[in-house]
Amino acid sequence: MKKRIPFICGNWKMNTTVEEGVNLAKALKEQTVSEEVEAVIAPSFLHLYPVKEVVDGSSWKLSAQDMSSEEMGAHTGEVAGEMIQGLEIPYVILGHSEARGRGQSNELLKKKLERAFALGLKPIFCIGEDESVYEEGKTISFVLNQLEESLGEISTEKWAGMLFAYEPIWAIGTGKTASAEDAQKVAKEIRQWIREKDEALGEELRILYGGSVKSDNARSILEQEDVDGLLVGGASLKAEEFGKIVGAGVFHE
Ligand code: PGA
Repeated sequence: MKKRIPFICGNWKMNTTVEEGVNLAKALKEQTVSEEVEAVIAPSFLHLYPVKEVVDGSSWKLSAQDMSSEEMGAHTGEVAGEMIQGLEIPYVILGHSEARGRGQSNELLKKKLERAFALGLKPIFCIGEDESVYEEGKTISFVLNQLEESLGEISTEKWAGMLFAYEPIWAIGTGKTASAEDAQKVAKEIRQWIREKDEALGEELRILYGGSVKSDNARSILEQEDVDGLLVGGASLKAEEFGKIVGAGVFHE
């Protein structure tokens, strides 16, 4: 058994029409999820409600893909955390590299994290380096700096239940996966960083890996001591494939 319950999240990104999303959710719902894993899907904002109607009452949980740093109000085109909270959606992905690529800074992400905590939403906070940082061998310091600048000053009392997702940008959607050993190496450093802030949280909080995860590499990554789950993009859009990835999170003695 893993020390922490594996958390497997499918990030649908900007994919599927409503009909396709609902059908995908129905196909996932037909697959029984073991109690030994937590299975989550993150459809686009527009699809959260219809998909929620499909998965409610099943073991599948939902996450939003982002949220505004602002309170509900006059912010055309934005989605407030209150709206996510109002749908009783427990998780929100924050700091995904594709969102950072659209200009979300560590400073803005700090505001989003504070907003999520204030609303009782659990962030899945993404961090990760690009190819040049990786090649220079500066991954660890880069990732720890992202953590420090966005989360470092927020009281650890608020962190309960949040998740971390290490996603090397060069591995996202490219078919190039970090080796299981590399994922472990970075996850271990992240855990150490958390531990230094709060020993108990360092043991408790889950750290995911993301970047070209498929059913054939999921298990070897999940076997790593400090990797407690996966954030899956492309491979989460096929029910059978994603079902196998969720199945890879079930560890028996
Ligand atoms: P990918 O995306 O699995 O398609 O590489 C992962 C992610 O961006 O979360």
